[in-house]
Amino acid sequence: MTESATIENILDVYAIREQFPILNREVKGKPLVYLDNAATTQKPRVVIDALVNYYTDYNANIHRGIHTLAEEATAAYEGTRDEVQHFINADSREEIIFTKGTTEGINLIAQTWGRQNIKEGDEIIVSNMEHHSNIVPWYILCEEKGAKLKVIPIDENGDLIVSEYEKLLSSKTKLVSIVHVSNALGTINPVKKIINEAHKAGAVVLVDGAQSSVHLDIDVQDMDCDFFVFSSHKLYGPTGVGVLYGKKNLLEAMPVYQGGGEMIKEVGFKKITYNDLPYKYEAGTPNIADTIAFKAALNFTSKVGKEKIRNHENELLAYATAQLEETPGLKIIGRSKQKISVISFVIDKIHPQDLGILLDNRGIAVRTGHHCAQPLMDLFCIPGTTRASFALYNTKAEIDILMKSLHKAIKMLL
Ligand code: ALA
Repeated sequence: MTESATIENILDVYAIREQFPILNREVKGKPLVYLDNAATTQKPRVVIDALVNYYTDYNANIHRGIHTLAEEATAAYEGTRDEVQHFINADSREEIIFTKGTTEGINLIAQTWGRQNIKEGDEIIVSNMEHHSNIVPWYILCEEKGAKLKVIPIDENGDLIVSEYEKLLSSKTKLVSIVHVSNALGTINPVKKIINEAHKAGAVVLVDGAQSSVHLDIDVQDMDCDFFVFSSHKLYGPTGVGVLYGKKNLLEAMPVYQGGGEMIKEVGFKKITYNDLPYKYEAGTPNIADTIAFKAALNFTSKVGKEKIRNHENELLAYATAQLEETPGLKIIGRSKQKISVISFVIDKIHPQDLGILLDNRGIAVRTGHHCAQPLMDLFCIPGTTRASFALYNTKAEIDILMKSLHKAIKMLL
């Protein structure tokens, strides 16, 4: 990322921090230093208030009632759909399906589009840096259909080897399902190129935006992806809500997913007709409260501005990287030049879990382990890493605390 910081796009991090109540708490008698943002982000007051307001003022089921509360709840829920459409620049609101999260979005496509379109001998391409949620649903589908899973290799820096990807594409390729930004490495993948090449081969492309949607500007029309999935909770919103974007013609042609209320037009014992988009894929009472509060998260992010957020996070990334590089025995895993603010590292003779426990004793939350990316860990011949991931409310002072605590922990463990 090469955006330059000017007075207008410098973030007032201390004003931002005041909007996140949890950042005032202590852990083990020390101020919380929350560096596990790739797992989930903390929630600003506006999101917490939106949840409380819904339950306090207008809790009702949606799309079903004509009473005032039901109308208010329906309007708020559908308002989030409009906001999401705007946030990712989808062509129409019918293309926005609410799910439980990224994982459900991928499984939905595997079980509907996948079951309808994948046949014996077909090929599905993923990459070596995928999260398990973008491997397992395709593995299951391939087993069921007799199809093959092909894997794009990555280099030692954690970049996709695009020339190898091009060699994998053929008339057998039916789907390319690729992560936009790696949760374990931070690598930003060249998705526009990947999509363009896949389309030339006649394949459909799903982009996993779980880690990208909070950092990068998302324009699904410009990207030209066929499906794009992401989660609210990694974007300052509540857990339990995700988005599946799909091109309208694809969503219309796909078979239904879960059966139940709302996804139907008429039900008889001999014949059932299904609802129009987007309701065709939203069976049952959805997660109303969290979906409504997700709108507050999207508004919050847009109001601060992604460019400002990126400038701040990139500064933190550079600051932390420079200090980690100076640490004897420490190796950063994931050295792409195109990265978001995630740093994974290993230290000679120290197990990440031991390090994680010692850091937690000093109030610092990092993630340790394989990060649901075991094939990636296998590639680097490591059991896991310690991962620090930064968000818009993190500060250089927190990185100083991380570094001081890290050096103390290393002394204790070696
Ligand atoms: N996928 C999340 C992570 O990377 C949970 O931590």
